[in-house]
Amino acid sequence: MEATTGQVIHLADYRPTDFVVERVDLTFELDPTETLVIQRTLMHRREGVADDVPLVLDGDELNLKAVAIDGNPIPESQYDVSDRALVIRDLPTGTTFEVTVETIINPEANTKLMGLYRTNGTYCTQCEAEGFRRITYFMDRPDVLGVYTITIIGDGAANPVMLSNGNFLGAGDYGDGRRFAAWYDPHPKPSYLFALVAGDLGVVEDTFTTMSEREVALKIYVEHGKEARAAYAMDALKRSMTWDEQAFGREYDLDIFMIVAVSDFNMGAMENKGLNVFNDKYILADPETATDQDYANIEAIVAHEYFHNWTGNRITCRDWFQLCLKEGLTVYRDHEFSADQRSRAVKRIAEVRHLKSEQFAEDSGPLAHPVRPTQFREINNFYTTTVYEKGSEVTRMIATLLGRPMFRKGMDLYFERHDGGAVTIEDFVRCFEDASGRDLGQFSRWYHQAGTPVVTVSARYDAGAKTLTMDVEQMIPPTPGQQVKEPMHIPLAMGFILDNGTEVQPTGVSGGEYADGVLHLTERTQSITFEGISSRPVLSLNRGFSAPINLHYDMPVEDMVQIARHDSDLFSRWQAINQLALRDLLKAVKEMTAGATQVAVDAELIAILRDSISDDSLEPAFRAQIMALPSEADIAREIGKDIDPEMIHAARNAVMAAVTAPAGTVLADILDAPRRVGSFSPDAASAGIRALRNAALTWMSYCEPSPDRAAKAFAEADNMTELAHALSVLAHRFSETESAKQAVAAFGDRFAENALVLDKWFSIQATVPGPATLASVEALMQSPRFAAGNPNRLRSLIGSFAMANPTGFHRKDGAGYAFLANQIIAIDKRNPQVAARILTSMRSWRSLESTRAGLARNALVTIGAASPLSTDVRDLVDRMLE
Ligand code: ARG
Ligand code: ZN
Repeated sequence: MEATTGQVIHLADYRPTDFVVERVDLTFELDPTETLVIQRTLMHRREGVADDVPLVLDGDELNLKAVAIDGNPIPESQYDVSDRALVIRDLPTGTTFEVTVETIINPEANTKLMGLYRTNGTYCTQCEAEGFRRITYFMDRPDVLGVYTITIIGDGAANPVMLSNGNFLGAGDYGDGRRFAAWYDPHPKPSYLFALVAGDLGVVEDTFTTMSEREVALKIYVEHGKEARAAYAMDALKRSMTWDEQAFGREYDLDIFMIVAVSDFNMGAMENKGLNVFNDKYILADPETATDQDYANIEAIVAHEYFHNWTGNRITCRDWFQLCLKEGLTVYRDHEFSADQRSRAVKRIAEVRHLKSEQFAEDSGPLAHPVRPTQFREINNFYTTTVYEKGSEVTRMIATLLGRPMFRKGMDLYFERHDGGAVTIEDFVRCFEDASGRDLGQFSRWYHQAGTPVVTVSARYDAGAKTLTMDVEQMIPPTPGQQVKEPMHIPLAMGFILDNGTEVQPTGVSGGEYADGVLHLTERTQSITFEGISSRPVLSLNRGFSAPINLHYDMPVEDMVQIARHDSDLFSRWQAINQLALRDLLKAVKEMTAGATQVAVDAELIAILRDSISDDSLEPAFRAQIMALPSEADIAREIGKDIDPEMIHAARNAVMAAVTAPAGTVLADILDAPRRVGSFSPDAASAGIRALRNAALTWMSYCEPSPDRAAKAFAEADNMTELAHALSVLAHRFSETESAKQAVAAFGDRFAENALVLDKWFSIQATVPGPATLASVEALMQSPRFAAGNPNRLRSLIGSFAMANPTGFHRKDGAGYAFLANQIIAIDKRNPQVAARILTSMRSWRSLESTRAGLARNALVTIGAASPLSTDVRDLVDRMLE
C-alpha cells in the first residue's frame, strides 16, 4: 500500500512489504527550524522477493540530505526521490544490510501537528497514522515492526527533558551547551508508535509495583507550574494498571511509563510505547477548573491509552483497515474499566446516549462506513465513532454471546497467539471461535456491514397455551457502497416481567435460540415462541443495550410505565422513560408544525419523572440522567427527514415547560438541600450529587421565568461543575438578561489565563440558541483569548457552534453554513485534520428541510471548489455530496 495522496486504497490490495525491518537507529539533532534526522535501519529482502525489486520508502514534506548503504554514500543515480517517496535500487542481495537516510525537517513550521512539531516551545511528535514519514523516509505502515534505539541531541538549557520510547539508556552533556539522551525500546513496534518529546517541562513522579513485583517508574510531564493538576491523572493511571492485571491478566512490560501533556494536539491522546502524549485537556484537573465530566474523561482516556499497551502495541494492526482491532477493543476495555470504577448503570446510560447521538447519526448519513472498512482515501478520516464506539459495541456483543468467562478465555488466547504480531479482525474473531467452539461467521457481518439495523418486534400472548410469540424482522438500511445487506446475528438481551413485578423464565423456546436471558436473532424474519409464561408479560427488550440497533416495538404505554417504574435493570428503566419522553417530544413537534401553540404531555410521564427525581433510593447520578430528556439532536435523528431545527427547539422547550412545572417543589428541595461542606472530591458519588443539582437548575429555568436561581448558583458555586453549568443556564436560557451578561464577563475575566477553562467559556457562548450567536462567534474569534492555531480553541468555538448549536448553526438564511465553509477553507491551510473533524458537523445535511439542505449543499460545494484543499477535507466533501 502506497502513500495516501488522494487515490483510493483498497483492503483487497494488501500485500506484505518486500523488505523486512530488523532494527532502527534514529539520531535527532534538534533545532526549531532545521532538525537533522539520521536514520540507520537494518533490513533484509523478504524471502522470495526478486533481487531487482527496489526499496520504496514513504515520505512527506521531507528535505533529503544523504542516503547510504552499509555506511557508504550512494550516488544520486541509485535512488529517486519525490514528494512522497524515496526509491532505492541495486541493494545487496541475500543478506541483511543497513540503510542510512538523513533528512532535515522544520518542527516550527509544522502546523499540521503530524510528525515532529513544536508546542509552547516543546518538541513533540504525533505519528499515528502516517506521521512518521514526515520525520524520515520509512516503510510507514503498521505491519513493519522494528526494535528502536533513539539518540536525542539538543540545546541543554532549552531541553533538560529528552524523552523517547522504551527504557532510558543514559544522558550527558557535550560541554558545548548541548546535551544528549538515549533510549532503547526492546519491544518491536511499528513506526506509528514512535515518539519523541524534548523541552523544559515539570514532572510528577510515582511508582507502581506490578503483579510479578517489578517496580515501574511513573512520570507525568506537564508545563512548569501545572504539576499539581496532574495528580488525578496519576491516580487514574495506577488504577488502570491494577485493573488490567485483574481484569485481563495484563502486566506492564517496561521499567518506566511516561505521559506528556501538551496544549496543541489534534486529538485526545496517543498511546506511543512507554511514552503516551496527551492533549493537556485530558490530563490537567483541579476542583477550581475541572468539571466532573473532565475528571471522568481523564480517567477514561488515561486508561484507554494505557490499555493500548497490550491491545494496540504488543498486538498491533496489520494495516489501517484493521483500526477497530485496537480501537474498538480498547474502547470496550476503557468502558469496562470506568463501569467498574463508577456506577455501571449510569456509565452504560452515558455510553448509549453518546453512541446514539454520534455513531447512529454517522451510520445513517453519507459518511456511514463499516467498522472494518474496505477502502479509504484518507485514513485520518476513519478515526470515527463507528470504528471506536461501534467497534466497542461489537466487542461487547462477543462478550454477551460467549458469556464473560468464555470471552476472557478468548482474550487470553488472543494475547497468547498474537503477541508481537500485526494482525487482522479475522485473527481476532478466530480466537473467540477457537476458545468457545462457537461459529462467529454470521456475527462477523457486524464488522463488514454499515448501517444501524432496524429490528421490528410484535408480540402476542396466548393465555390458553401460556405462550408468548414474538415476530421479529431485521432490516439493515442501505449505506454508501452497500445497497443490499445480509441478516446479522443480533444478541437481544430480554426479560419477561409479570404484573406483580416478578420476572419469569420461559420453560421452553422454539423458533430461535434463547439462553441466559439473550435471544439470538439470526434471520431476516423470525417467529419465536416462549412457553410456560403464566400471564401476559411485559417485555423488557434490548436490556443494557445489548445490541446497537434501532428497536421498533409498539409497546403498550402501560408496559412502558411498568418498566420505567419497576424493571430490575436500571438501564431499562432509563430507556423506557427516555422512550416515553421521546414519544411526547415527537408528538409536540408534529403538532407545533401543524400550527399548535400548546402541547400536551402524558400525565404518566410527568408523574414518573417527578417520582423518580424525588426517589432517594435511586442514586443521584441516575436521577440526573432521567432528567436529561432527549436532546434536540436526538429528536432530529428520530424524525430523520425534513428537519426544521427551530421547530424542534420550540417543541422541546414547550415539553420541558410542561414536565417541569409540576416538579417545582421537588426541584427546590434538591437545590436548597444543605450543601456538603469540606473539601472537594471528584468521586462518582459526589459527582452524582452535583449532576442532580445541575439538572434541577436546568429544570428550574423552564418553570421559573427568572435568572435569579442560576445567578445565585453561579455566585455560590465552589467547583467548576456547578459554576460552568450555572453559566450555561444563564447564557442559554436567559441570554438577554443583565445577570447572564455579567456572568459571562466575570467568568472570562476570572479564567483569562487558563486556556482549558476558556474553552468552556467559548463553547458555552458558541452554543447559545438562536440566530444571533453567529455574530458573537465571529466577534469571539477576534478576542485575544482565541488562538486560531490551537486545536482545542478551534474545536471549542467553531466546533461547538457547528456541532452543538442546532438553531444557531442551522440558521434559515444559511449564514451558519457559509461561515463554516470559510472557516474550513481557512483552517485547512494550517491543519487539515482539525478542519476535517469540524466539517463532519455537516454529515446529516441531507435530512434538513429543503431550504436549509440547499444552502448547506451550496456551502459544501464552495468548500469543494477551494484550491488547494487537503485530501482530508476533499474526501469528506466528496463523500457528503455523492
Ligand atoms: N490512537 C489514538 C487513540 O485512540 C488516536 C490517534 C488518532 N490519530 C489520528 N490521526 N486521527 O488513542
Ligand atoms: Zn485508542
